[in-house]
This record gives sequence, structure tokens and C-alpha cells, in this order.
Amino acid sequence: MSKKLDFPATARNANAILAVLQQYMAFGDVFEIASGSGQHVVHFAKALQQNTFWPSDPEPDHIASIIAWSEQTSLCNIMPPQRLDVTEYNWYNGDPIEGLPNSFSAILCSNMIHIAPITAAKGMFAGAGKRLQDDGQLFLYGPFFGISDNEAPSNIEFDKNLKQRNPEWGVRSIDKVKAWADSCGLYLGKTISMPANNFVLIFYKNNTDS
Ligand SMILES: C[S@@+](CC[C@H](N)C(=O)[O-])C[C@H]1O[C@@H](n2cnc3c(N)ncnc32)[C@H](O)[C@@H]1O
Repeated sequence: MSKKLDFPATARNANAILAVLQQYMAFGDVFEIASGSGQHVVHFAKALQQNTFWPSDPEPDHIASIIAWSEQTSLCNIMPPQRLDVTEYNWYNGDPIEGLPNSFSAILCSNMIHIAPITAAKGMFAGAGKRLQDDGQLFLYGPFFGISDNEAPSNIEFDKNLKQRNPEWGVRSIDKVKAWADSCGLYLGKTISMPANNFVLIFYKNNTDS
């Protein structure tokens, strides 16, 4: 039986995220945190063949799905997935991880920091700050509170629903996200509105405002 998982939301937002990556992402090695089913990485790698993609996820069934989706393509620019949890010391401390480059031109994380405890958001930023090249970019996709003047009712409902599932989950406020990033040497450079009240935030290692 196929190990390919099909996440409907992933398939729905893949093209919109890809359009942002095509506009802003530099060439080089791209590490994907929380790759989930692997549908995103396959979609992005097909369109961005000048980049090499390094998917990852902590869940064994997600790793199996990433492998299954990747095997179905004949792409040479998707590397084998890494089992990686961003709350683990070796990630956030920036230690070398066997099988991975020591630094990346970009790191990509979609739909993770609201479906995980705050330690995951903090760990994600800490490791990204240590592993991005000096001109590197962190792309963070998802819903955030505090960007729009009026919060979308669907995001308020989503936040309630997440907290019912796990009190440590929830839509994060942009102020907190920026503070966590700042403390890891990452600066919010671009905020891009996406369909369905989501955003792509692009963080840079160097604060170009200063
Ligand atoms: C909603 S899915 C998003 C998957 C994919 N990025 C997407 O946008 O469709 C959330 C993912 O976050 C991963 N995740 C949760 N906690 C994590 C952690 N501490 N470190 C890395 N990934 C984590 C889960 O295993 C899951 O694959």
C-alpha cells in the first residue's frame, strides 16, 4: 500500500507559496522544517530546479510519505528526508547533523508553529539563526494575529479549535514571532498576504533597515 499521505490543505496552498518562492528565493540549499506529507517539497522542487531541497519531519509516517512522494518523481534535487524535531538540542544549538549541509541559503517552515508548543517556534528560530548563510532567508507560512487591523473570524475560530485540541497550540501573534526571531538574529523583512488569511513572513539574517 502506498505510504503517500494526502493533506488537502497542503495541496491547496502549494501554488500560492510557490509563487512567493519563485519571486524571492535565492539559489542554493533549502532546508524544509516540518515537511509533513512531502507534497510541498515535491511541488517546489519540480518548479525550482536550481535549488536543492532537504525535507525533514519528526513523524515516522511523514518521513515515509515524503520518501514515497519523492520516489514518484525523477527529480535529482530532493534529498532524503531527515528525522528532525526542532525542539531537540542538536538542531537549536546549531550542531552539525549527519547527512545535512552545515548551512543553507534558505529555510522553509509552513504551518508548524501554531500546531506545536511555543518551544517548537523558539527552537525553529534558534536553529535557523545558526544554520542560515549570512545572506540566507527564512520563509515562514501560516496564520498570524496582529498583522491585519481586523482579525479574520476564520482565524479566531481556528485558534479556538487548536487550543481545544492542545492548550499549548494556537495562532501566534506577529509581535511574539518577531521577538523570538530578533533574539536569534533574524529580522522580519517582508510580510506577504496569502489566500485564506495566511501570510508568508520572510526573515533575513542581516537587518537591512539599520
Ligand atoms: C500541519 S502539518 C504541516 C505540514 C506541511 N509543512 C504543510 O504545510 O502542509 C504540521 C507539521 O509539523 C510537524 N511538527 C510538529 N512539531 C514539530 C517539531 N517540534 N519539529 C519539527 N516539526 C514538527 C508535524 O510532524 C507536521 O508534519
